[in-house]
Amino acid sequence: MSTPKAFEKPIYVTRPFLPPLTEFKKGLEEIWANGWLTNNGPIHQRYSRELCRYFDTENICLFNNGTLALQIALQGLGLSGEVITTPFTFVATTHALYWNKIRPVFCDIEPDFYNLDPKKVEAAITPWTTAILAVHTYGFPCQVHALADIARRHKLKLVYDAAHAFGVKIGSEPIAHFGDLSMFSFHATKLYHSFEGGLLTFRDSSLKKTFDYLKNFGFENEEEVVMPGTNAKMNEVQALMGSQMLRYIDKLILKRSQIAEVYRKRLGAVPGIRLPVRVAGDVRYNFGYFCVEVDEEAFGLSRDALNEELKRYNIWTRRYFYPLVCDYACYRSVSITDPLTVARRAAKRILSLPIYDALEVSDVEKICDIVQLLGSASCRKPLKRTKDVRMSTAGAA
Ligand SMILES: Cc1ncc(COP(=O)(O)O)c(C=O)c1O
Repeated sequence: MSTPKAFEKPIYVTRPFLPPLTEFKKGLEEIWANGWLTNNGPIHQRYSRELCRYFDTENICLFNNGTLALQIALQGLGLSGEVITTPFTFVATTHALYWNKIRPVFCDIEPDFYNLDPKKVEAAITPWTTAILAVHTYGFPCQVHALADIARRHKLKLVYDAAHAFGVKIGSEPIAHFGDLSMFSFHATKLYHSFEGGLLTFRDSSLKKTFDYLKNFGFENEEEVVMPGTNAKMNEVQALMGSQMLRYIDKLILKRSQIAEVYRKRLGAVPGIRLPVRVAGDVRYNFGYFCVEVDEEAFGLSRDALNEELKRYNIWTRRYFYPLVCDYACYRSVSITDPLTVARRAAKRILSLPIYDALEVSDVEKICDIVQLLGSASCRKPLKRTKDVRMSTAGAA
């Protein structure tokens, strides 16, 4: 195989899908005509109804981002003491606990889908535990039945950070139907986005009023503030994007599933590259991410070295998640009893490859060729950087 040239334009790990501008402009005209920009405007109301249909529940609440949605969720549920959670996540999962003065108890994950290991969760329960905060990592469903069983037996709340899991189903059930509550992030980097945004779905309908207060300063009316809320409201432009994105979500998932298949076909036989484990047959996966594990010994390069080498070809993969949350300076003082063996191994080996609807199959094939070449020791000669490559990667960090 001849050495492929670097991509002329950077290939990032993701690129947001945007609906046609003409369509979005029409929506903007509606906002202009309404003259109502935020605070549960008409588009927000319409979008909420659409989401209720999408998730088949009346119990939803929209927010300006997923982090504040999760913080408010934990506060609204009245959680305190300790919450068992994963260190293999984006730092916002743990921050939401910290902002509620809750102590995170970091627990190990299972090696197939990188989600909390139910056996380890049960072993981590103490008299101070009030909840389990699990993450559907990369959109792979947690072991929802095992976690629900533990939560029920120990009278704990079960909260899901479903930031990655929009569009995922188990059988005919949207992932939002599991646990007491789920938070979805609509950040621009996600498969489904509203520029920025967040959503809570929950089992107990009485929570809706609390979440509505908490995201709007606690206002009951002009004269009454019933609780010390914050400002976490979704605005009309965000709601417009979210609403229009709903029309495309199935197509986006299909396109990504095709890209994932190309990766599987082309990387399946590369020594030292471990493909993501396939989800169970009854799971409708969303293909939000395509993460491989790099086994340094078998591949010939470490994950970090591969990540660096790919930059020379203008391919911007991500070490997602690295480092573990418990290794960030602000959480290093949290005492940990679990050695977190699986999480540490995953953080050292995982590499998130580019996946988005506009990624051409020929580009995916070229990425695979480059990975394969880099893995074979004979091809690890220094690649000449062209002026173009330097320029086009200048703003990419
Ligand atoms: C697992 C996880 N939790 C929480 C968040 C926070 O969501 P947001 O960026 O919408 O605040 C993100 C993503 O950004 C995430 O990936």
